[in-house]
Amino acid sequence: MSLTVRKPDVRPPTAAPRAWLNGNVTVSRFFDAAGIVIGPMERFGVRVIRRLRGRVPAMDATLRGFCGQESQHSRIHRRFDAALAAQGLRFEPCVARQERLLRWVERRCRPRLQLSIVVALEHNFASLGDLVLRDRVMDGAEPEHRDLWEWHGVEELEHKAVAFRLYQALGAPWWHRQLGLVLASLLMWLPLIHTALVLLRQDPGFSAARRRQDRAAWLAAGHATLWQLAARYARPYLSPSYDPDQIDHSALIAETLARLEPRLAAAGGG
Ligand SMILES: [Fe+2]
Ligand SMILES: [Fe+2]
Repeated sequence: MSLTVRKPDVRPPTAAPRAWLNGNVTVSRFFDAAGIVIGPMERFGVRVIRRLRGRVPAMDATLRGFCGQESQHSRIHRRFDAALAAQGLRFEPCVARQERLLRWVERRCRPRLQLSIVVALEHNFASLGDLVLRDRVMDGAEPEHRDLWEWHGVEELEHKAVAFRLYQALGAPWWHRQLGLVLASLLMWLPLIHTALVLLRQDPGFSAARRRQDRAAWLAAGHATLWQLAARYARPYLSPSYDPDQIDHSALIAETLARLEPRLAAAGGG
């Protein structure tokens, strides 16, 4: 399996509204927070995979492609993080705490457990990619943000099975994969929700009434509730027969790339 490492020159818009996704402050801030906390987790995943790469030489090229794609995601997300900081938003402590936590995991957990966490994180990232692309979440977003999340989403679907295949090759029982899910959920969702709240608290126009209005707008646009999303994406992972390739994303990837690649090329990469 060969993975294309694209190097698009996507940049944040110079004067975008804070609510860059359909005027929805809550959902915009959720994705801003996701961009902030995903960066450290992607760098963690790259470090874990690089340390284990030599154990399965047949996967070397694929694992290099995985690390290449993730490194590009981190690079572009940092630009968008910098644009948020330039708006006066303070979230550096969230990033620093996330980095410290992941370094602690690397010091304290065995490599195979670290990989189990990466497999679960990759399931979460691919789920987010599936949500963004299948439900067309970014329709109505600022074009630069749309390019960022659709490009990231498509590559998460392209490499969704890579960490899992390495994990399979190293051999691990079902319960070990579930333990990775529990740890990954703590490492991802708590910092993400906390960071989103940190951003929203700094928004002078944000209120409980605005949050209710944003939630109603999200549902009115036909999007799923959090519980429906949890059922759609978390339940398959619990099955002993789980495999990331059980869902065929090839048509969704091809259709998105046909739309996206001319835009990425115009942005200076691809
Ligand atoms: Fe990524
Ligand atoms: Fe990924």
